[in-house]
Amino acid sequence: MFPSTIYSERRKKLRSELPGGIALFLGNTDIAFNYPANQYTFRQDSNFSYFFGLDHPDLAGLIDLDEGKDIIFGNDLDISDIIWMGKQPTIAEQAAKAGVSVTFPLIELIEYIGIAVAKGRRIHFVPTYRAETRIQLAGLLANDHLKIQDKASPELIRAIVKLRMVKDEPEVKEIEKMIDVAYIMHTTAMKMAKPGVVEQQIAGTIEGIALANAGPVSFPVILTVNGQTLHNHYHGNILNEGRMMVIDAGCENDLHYASDITRTVPVGGKFSQRQMEIYEIVLKANMEAINAVKPGVPFKDIHLLAARVIAKGLTGLGLMKGEPDEAVAKGAHTLFFPHGLGHPLGLDVHDLEGMGENYVGYDNEVQRSKEFGLAYLRFGRKLQPGFVMTIEPGIYFIPELFEIWKNENRHAEFINYDKVEQYLDFGGIRIEDDVLVTADGVRVLGRPIPKTVSEIEEMMAG
Ligand code: GLY
Repeated sequence: MFPSTIYSERRKKLRSELPGGIALFLGNTDIAFNYPANQYTFRQDSNFSYFFGLDHPDLAGLIDLDEGKDIIFGNDLDISDIIWMGKQPTIAEQAAKAGVSVTFPLIELIEYIGIAVAKGRRIHFVPTYRAETRIQLAGLLANDHLKIQDKASPELIRAIVKLRMVKDEPEVKEIEKMIDVAYIMHTTAMKMAKPGVVEQQIAGTIEGIALANAGPVSFPVILTVNGQTLHNHYHGNILNEGRMMVIDAGCENDLHYASDITRTVPVGGKFSQRQMEIYEIVLKANMEAINAVKPGVPFKDIHLLAARVIAKGLTGLGLMKGEPDEAVAKGAHTLFFPHGLGHPLGLDVHDLEGMGENYVGYDNEVQRSKEFGLAYLRFGRKLQPGFVMTIEPGIYFIPELFEIWKNENRHAEFINYDKVEQYLDFGGIRIEDDVLVTADGVRVLGRPIPKTVSEIEEMMAG
């Protein structure tokens, strides 16, 4: 955990953002895997972690905004727990580490909330992403678990987004530690990407590296020679020369700060001319987008900048035609780059996404587009110092999308369908870094992971 003052300070700031009532944070419970006593690895709720820090199941944190009290609800272990789990610090001892001096057994949360509700006090809570939490919340608030989600507090959501989006130095350090572990994951994957190897061997190895050096992976590893499928979790292919392998992977630590890095490498370690040509375009989009990051710039503009670099590069190769800027304005590039440029990163790999993407990534100034491609951009609003973002442009040849577009002759003035058809066996390329928005620009976080053609070839030869 961070020093207790960090958690106290975060709660104090939250209090100053909210009008009154109670802010309720239910920690996560254990989830059964195949029978009750055999459970998935426990993962604490990120908001609970942020404000209360404790990292085990069956806790609730409460900020009583009217009475200026912070409370942790949880149960001390009894002897039968101790036999199986060993002696643990008491809830009061644990709470002190989060700067909280008031604790109650978990059961007392029912009465505390019941009295508050009876008095007509406002209970602020955030949207839930687990059925268990939804049921617990619905029970506490005597509400329908199917409808409880609609009662989440917009004020609390906005206040949390405001606080969590801006990372302080200790948080950035934690993220950087996780990128340094991702360095080992990615460079190991690069060295293993030899013809005849099965994807699973590499995916399993790098997941083990995450566990051995930090904590679990921050999302299921994407490692595939079929990178045209953006989130491809199938790891059964045998690597063959001539294919590109996408590795999109990161990890999180005991505080739950995450990394999220993508590299794409040629199986066997040498780029062919065709691979290099496409790779250099994605690399240019990645680097120009990073260079454009600074406070006050809408992320949507940087996304569109990357799209223009991609359209220009593909036009240079004869895969697109016409005026690249016009092609992007009309959305023609989305055949190749259908997703958004990136997303916030922090305690969640898609940081704060559980709050609702539009609360996090959009505001009155920048609203979410409904157009294909741009609609997938998770974050469009202006950047601020302290934001940590991923920058992850890509070029993909998705045969199914190609078929639809070709049959419709969609954007035929910008797409050379005959030429693109020759690339349908290519797969995809994505290059992703994690960056911090600084007071006047940008800092790429963590130990640099090979990214240029020569850096990758050198690493793969090593
Ligand atoms: N890197 C996986 C994702 O952004 O969804």
